[in-house]
Amino acid sequence: MRTRSDLSGPFELNIIGTNATTADPPGQPMNLELHSQRLLLRPLAAEDLELAVELFTDPEIMTFVGKPSTAEMIAEEMPIALSRGGGGCIGIWCILDRITGEKLGETFLLPLAIEGDDTDWDLVGGPGLPEAEIETGYFLRRPAWGKGYATETIKRLTMFAFEETPLEELVAVIDPKNDASHNVLLKAGFTEEGPRRAYATEMQGFRISRAQWKAQFGDAG
Ligand SMILES: CC(C)(COP(=O)(O)OP(=O)(O)OC[C@H]1O[C@@H](n2cnc3c(N)ncnc32)[C@H](O)[C@@H]1OP(=O)(O)O)[C@@H](O)C(=O)NCCC(=O)NCCS
Repeated sequence: MRTRSDLSGPFELNIIGTNATTADPPGQPMNLELHSQRLLLRPLAAEDLELAVELFTDPEIMTFVGKPSTAEMIAEEMPIALSRGGGGCIGIWCILDRITGEKLGETFLLPLAIEGDDTDWDLVGGPGLPEAEIETGYFLRRPAWGKGYATETIKRLTMFAFEETPLEELVAVIDPKNDASHNVLLKAGFTEEGPRRAYATEMQGFRISRAQWKAQFGDAG
């Protein structure tokens, strides 16, 4: 399945904090700090370990996304979780309140695992984008639930993907019982595709193409 554009084009993305926008000529540094009305998404950093531990050890947060992890395992895996690929445009972002700086959760663009039970991090970190479907997902701390933050996050990340990277398509997969995530994806313009294989199990698949995104949000984002 074709999941991305021809990457032989002029996208040479660099991770440095500038004010690059879609209007910048290709090859200019890319800004990976993404603002929305209430949120700031910035690349995950080593200092976010405490947040990661809060998210991935919480049985309620992990209800539909696998078994809770341990703090030790999360600390061990943190350096890998900081990897970025495609010149920085795939990886994990920390979600913060843009006014107070409070950390609210994590969101990501990463190669979708089909038969593995976790992201294949060997696919991340090369110079180009991996030959894989690129998945988006999100995890919020419990106090941040029910405020529309996940929808705002995914809309902003999708806008980034289609306005500032060569990605042609994003996918998402959920446990069919995860109603909150189901609603988030529909509100963010994804199309439900039915059951599909991912993470070595049967999940509910969603997809959005650049053209679909443009048709829905192209002018306003
Ligand atoms: C899934 C999750 C990110 C949703 O975050 P959120 O910020 O609360 O979601 P939003 O506030 O943007 O809600 C989106 C929509 O889903 C609805 N919704 C929220 N929680 C719901 C629930 N438990 N059941 C049904 N609908 C729900 C909201 O009402 C909203 O629709 P509305 O605007 O029409 O009212 C959050 O619950 C979470 O982190 N869960 C644990 C991790 C997880 O499952 N991640 C998804 C992996 S695929």
